[in-house]
Amino acid sequence: MKTVAFYNNKGGVGKTTLAVHFALFAELLKLHVLAVCLDRQGDMLRWISDGAASAGEAGVFKKSEFLSAIYSPMSIPKIKSGIDLLIADCPPAVQIAAEIDPSIWIIPILGRLGFENLFTILDDLRDSKAEVIVLMNRKGGGGKRQEKKMHEALSKIKRVTYYEPGIRQANAVSRVTNEFSAVWDDTFAKGVRADLENFCRFLLKRCGLRSR
Ligand SMILES: Nc1ncnc2c1ncn2[C@@H]1O[C@H](COP(=O)(O)OP(=O)(O)OP(=O)(O)O)[C@@H](O)[C@H]1O
Ligand SMILES: [Mg+2]
Repeated sequence: MKTVAFYNNKGGVGKTTLAVHFALFAELLKLHVLAVCLDRQGDMLRWISDGAASAGEAGVFKKSEFLSAIYSPMSIPKIKSGIDLLIADCPPAVQIAAEIDPSIWIIPILGRLGFENLFTILDDLRDSKAEVIVLMNRKGGGGKRQEKKMHEALSKIKRVTYYEPGIRQANAVSRVTNEFSAVWDDTFAKGVRADLENFCRFLLKRCGLRSR
């Protein structure tokens, strides 16, 4: 079983959006997925359960044969049998880095301040042996020149795997967030749909997982 944790000590950078899309993508490929909501707000659980379950929910919410979600603030639950992939949506809290031991960390970053903050995050994760994958979210939302500079700097950081394509900024993402659906259910989401699908494919490969 692989554990992929979506983390950033800043709020609103896309942790939940990316974690939920990865869980729904893996579900479509018939992988057994447990989505763990480490964030007290319970956003991932609310999204996956289409609003039926939320923060404070006890027990596992079974969305389908392949995808379940659980509210488990700040700690990874013990249930692990029969699961291919555990996807953890972390709160923007530093102490989480010491609490969990994932196979891979995913760090979405947003804008120049997000980039500068990356070094603080790498410090939070200094004791972790896991691979750290960094990507820009909401690309095109800031200036192109600034993005180019960030791209050059990110390519040079040794400790991280830089997922260069990133995810573009698109209104469809806020729509699907509000509707608890996925970009592949939105007719107007072509570009960002391709971005998210490519990212999920890349991640599954990194986890050594393939469709059943
Ligand atoms: N690529 C994108 N394009 C447009 N909007 C986006 C994109 N990614 C995320 N958003 C929007 O940004 C907001 C914050 O995203 P999200 O909730 O995933 O962040 P988060 O890091 O989980 O935040 P928190 O720290 O509060 O849990 C949401 O309204 C979401 O729809
Ligand atoms: Mg979140």
